[in-house]
Amino acid sequence: MTHPSLSRRRLLQLSCASLAAAPWLGSSAWASASLPRKAIGMPFPGVQLPASPQPAPSEGSVGFAVMGLGGYGLGRVMPALARAERCHVAAVVSGNPEKAARAAAAYGLPDDAIYSYDNFDAIADDDRVEAVYIVLPSGLHADWTEKSFAAGKHVLCEKPMALTSAECERMIAAGQQAGKQLMIAYRCHFEPYNLRAMELMREGAVGAIRDIETFQQYRMGPTSPAENWRVVRSLAGGGPLEDYGIYGLQAALYLSGEMPSSLRAETVQPANDPRFSEIFASVRTEMQFPSGATARLFTSYDTNPGRNRVAVAGADGLLEMEPATGYGGQHMTLTRGDASETLAPGDPGVQFHLQCDHLAEVIRDGKELIVPGEMGLRDVRLMEAIYRSAAAGETVAV
Ligand SMILES: NC(=O)c1ccc[n+]([C@@H]2O[C@H](COP(=O)([O-])OP(=O)(O)OC[C@H]3O[C@@H](n4cnc5c(N)ncnc54)[C@H](OP(=O)(O)O)[C@@H]3O)[C@@H](O)[C@H]2O)c1
Repeated sequence: MTHPSLSRRRLLQLSCASLAAAPWLGSSAWASASLPRKAIGMPFPGVQLPASPQPAPSEGSVGFAVMGLGGYGLGRVMPALARAERCHVAAVVSGNPEKAARAAAAYGLPDDAIYSYDNFDAIADDDRVEAVYIVLPSGLHADWTEKSFAAGKHVLCEKPMALTSAECERMIAAGQQAGKQLMIAYRCHFEPYNLRAMELMREGAVGAIRDIETFQQYRMGPTSPAENWRVVRSLAGGGPLEDYGIYGLQAALYLSGEMPSSLRAETVQPANDPRFSEIFASVRTEMQFPSGATARLFTSYDTNPGRNRVAVAGADGLLEMEPATGYGGQHMTLTRGDASETLAPGDPGVQFHLQCDHLAEVIRDGKELIVPGEMGLRDVRLMEAIYRSAAAGETVAV
């Protein structure tokens, strides 16, 4: 099950599975070599495992199975769970047995806490696991969320929730049927700079909001759908918008406190570039809000230098965040009149474990989930509207 060195023959086998599972993939010349829309093991990413096992879980701590040991799963999710106060890593789910064994050993997990995509269903009988954190390529979120609910577990699912609103609706229905929580890993809702920005906007710190501007962009190195799921349509959707631009989209909503009434978008997909044979290179969106405010969102995998900016211009001031939504290094200034102040509301590094602890307090204390599946569905519907507008070349009502 481990992803091999991707021989030509293997790639052709994979592509057949991919096309069968995702008929809407299309018939691009590159599709024949795409990674499949199917859970498979991949090589060890360039991350460091902890030198000592995670601390013993506290009384009542929620045990998580981490599914998908890639860059984010191993690099951020497992360390966050180990740092969290009310949850811990209880199992791993991976298609690469050697990598899973190394990760399990590093976190102090026994061998019987290692699952593969093939024997995952057996996790239903494992009481050490109450929740599954899904860190798979985005096109696999829906199926594995449903399987996790079928196994009687809560789900914390990475962003984007899924690639279509129909998939999101299926996920929500499966959670309701199982009577389990479905949380979307929108980490900025737990990050001090973004939380302070939301508070400032609620307090009217820039006056009536006139315009929000967001840039989430970088230049992706040479790659192709044969080696990188982020450029495979059936695993990544349109590409940069679902992966990175979603932060700008989210910020426009949580800072304006409104839903757009209409939007207009454009996509760019250069020819003869294997990075963009299946996905878009850039997406530009303009939104109109009922208050009269506008938002201009740009996201791209093809611009250098990279940017991660969110700015809110109001009648009385300007809030600027750059970098705005990263793992760390946030910078934020508030300008009113001639006065400009730099705000440093806290350590962005807490966002990863506070997010995990939030699901624990929802499960244990009955707190209301602040980033539920319904929010993920809302955003996927907006992304669908963005692509609809770009395809039609016209403004669409939302
Ligand atoms: N919130 C954030 O800031 C943030 C940041 C980065 C990524 N993410 C999200 O996390 C998810 C994973 O991203 P990532 O950067 O960790 O990706 P990645 O490094 O490529 O890892 C993905 C892992 O998924 C598993 N996998 C199963 N089927 C696969 C397939 N067909 N193709 C490729 N991998 C497959 C593999 O794990 P095994 O080998 O263990 O089976 C692989 O290592 C995505 O949904 C992404 O949007 C979120």
